[in-house]
Amino acid sequence: MTAQKPLRFVTLLGSLRRNSFHAAIARAIPSLAPEGIKIASAGSIDGLPHYDADLQAEGFPPALLAMAAAIQEADAVIIVTPEYNYSVPGALKNALDWLSRLTPQPLAEKPVAIQTGSPGMIGGARAQYHLRQIMVFLDAHVLNKPEIMIGGIHSKIDPETSEVTDEATAALMAQQLVALARMVRPGD
Ligand code: FNR
Repeated sequence: MTAQKPLRFVTLLGSLRRNSFHAAIARAIPSLAPEGIKIASAGSIDGLPHYDADLQAEGFPPALLAMAAAIQEADAVIIVTPEYNYSVPGALKNALDWLSRLTPQPLAEKPVAIQTGSPGMIGGARAQYHLRQIMVFLDAHVLNKPEIMIGGIHSKIDPETSEVTDEATAALMAQQLVALARMVRPGD
């Protein structure tokens, strides 16, 4: 990165579980970022009501508006999520459904990177490809590669310290941050 204004990325987490491996991955991301990138959370998807057009007519939930503002102000978003039943966890889909109803829609033309994982071998690949499909409708600009699908996630991140203990995974995460930064600022 050159000495320019720092890039600001936000993370969006798809798990609500207290000792979530994906939450630990999201917490680890700042430590893997190259100089010149600041990373914060976009806010929690927890507590958003189920999407309902009648609720929307009464007004968007304040937590959603705060999340939308964080995404709007960010240069890019990193979605970190487990796979549930071969797809995107319902709570994350719900948050995306709410976000999609806003004007301006905060993910439109927004650079987005995706990280999925699983204790199993496939690393959440099926959820990742469902999420990529959802992102088409939201008109997000999803980074193609490197794809991050962390198989055996339970042995690659320590949820207590948020340290990515698997070197190859940490290196790939760092590479993805560089690729995302290049997508935001192609000249770098
Ligand atoms: C899962 N899990 C799972 N794993 C997977 O690889 N493919 C899948 O389709 C599913 N489906 C699924 C459904 C539901 C309802 C649960 C609760 C779990 C296992 C999942 O990957 C595992 O619980 C992760 O640890 C969840 O991520 P966090 O919460 O640790 O970040």
